[in-house]
Amino acid sequence: MKSSKTRCLGILTAGGDSPGLNAVVRAITKVAMGEFGMRVLGIQDGFRGLVENRILTLDDATVSGVLTRGGTILGTSRDKPHSMPMGGRLMDMTDAAVENAQKHQMDCLVCLGGGGTAKNAFRLAQRRGINVMTLPKTIDNDVFGTDVSFGFDTAVSIATEAIDRLHTTATSHHRLIVCEVMGHRAGWLALHAGIAGGADVILLPELPYDLEKIAEFLLERRRHGKRFSIIAVAEGALSRREADALAAAKAAKDKETKETKETKETKETKETKETKEKDKDKDREKDKDRRKTRDLDRPDKGEGLGELSTEADDVDAFRADLTLNVSRLHDETMAYHVVQEPMASRLARHLQALTGVEARVTSLGHVQRGGVPTAFDRTLSTMMGARAAELLAEGQYNVMVAYRNGVCVPVPLAEVVGRKKLVPADHHLIHCARQVGTCFGD
Ligand code: F6P
Repeated sequence: MKSSKTRCLGILTAGGDSPGLNAVVRAITKVAMGEFGMRVLGIQDGFRGLVENRILTLDDATVSGVLTRGGTILGTSRDKPHSMPMGGRLMDMTDAAVENAQKHQMDCLVCLGGGGTAKNAFRLAQRRGINVMTLPKTIDNDVFGTDVSFGFDTAVSIATEAIDRLHTTATSHHRLIVCEVMGHRAGWLALHAGIAGGADVILLPELPYDLEKIAEFLLERRRHGKRFSIIAVAEGALSRREADALAAAKAAKDKETKETKETKETKETKETKETKEKDKDKDREKDKDRRKTRDLDRPDKGEGLGELSTEADDVDAFRADLTLNVSRLHDETMAYHVVQEPMASRLARHLQALTGVEARVTSLGHVQRGGVPTAFDRTLSTMMGARAAELLAEGQYNVMVAYRNGVCVPVPLAEVVGRKKLVPADHHLIHCARQVGTCFGD
């Protein structure tokens, strides 16, 4: 057995599931145990399982036969330790998470997830000094610092196959088909699947589109005898008007927040602030004492036990909210009364109206995240998992295992957290797609 600085590690999978998660869990477990003699623990349902102490031992038998299985054998959730719904309230459960990691003598908490997961893991490391490591999982491929995340290749294959199938029916009926793929902020999936599937129009969140330009492009195709068209659209794609309204609403919100903060600050004297801080410290101490006596093994016992979370750092939720308002605005100006109509169907409706060509919508949804991982994702996951175990043995903590130029390397989490890898407007794939006649609606 080789020597190792890590004796025990806990693995959790957090955020949306992704093909390849089980392959990573399998590889870490096999290498960490088999080569370095580490104890490997599996935490159920992401950070929630850590808070609720739902932790089991992983071994060869547990990870046997999971290489090709989709989803995650550990279960997942989108819960964050510092702001977790407990008994109907959002609570800061950081203490419980850290206490349980310590109780099981974990030298490192290994978190498989996307940008949000990396942020939550890093927060635990920074605030409470526990060792963490992350591995980049997401079908969106938007994790910063890695060339690719596991799960992306599988999702691209699924979306490409769907576009292939849509082609035959669109051709037969001479229709427009809008195919919505996942990706709220990043358009990698739409871009890759759109190119691979030969979509005529590709719409990305990063490149606001102009409806009239798309309609004109579609009509031009018809004039050239092509009576069908496929439009691959990322779920977060926005029209130019929506993007402008979103930017204006965000600027107004930022201004309001800044002004409220400034007014509040001038009102509060330094002395009042200090008194408040002292009171808060006392409350925290009291909470800590109460927490020491609670039963953490039972789920949903958290009400009134942690701190009430006040943090609202969910930019995506803010954006989703704004997008919804913007879409209402958009439809009002077009004299429609539509609430929460899915973006792809709104797009299809407008394009049908502008071109006079019958349109249909297919939203691929969670199909893109399901089923067996591709060969590439299985290989990538195995490489990343094995490398993670080696890095743990070396005692390299607070890093993400990234895939760069064909090899897996550690990247400090500080360089990754809070950043998203979006499609740059001048990306070579956009250029290449334009060269073969693809329209981006811009
Ligand atoms: O984070 C990956 C992702 O699949 C996104 O592409 C998508 O917008 C989102 O998750 C869907 O989340 P949920 O599974 O919670 O509906």
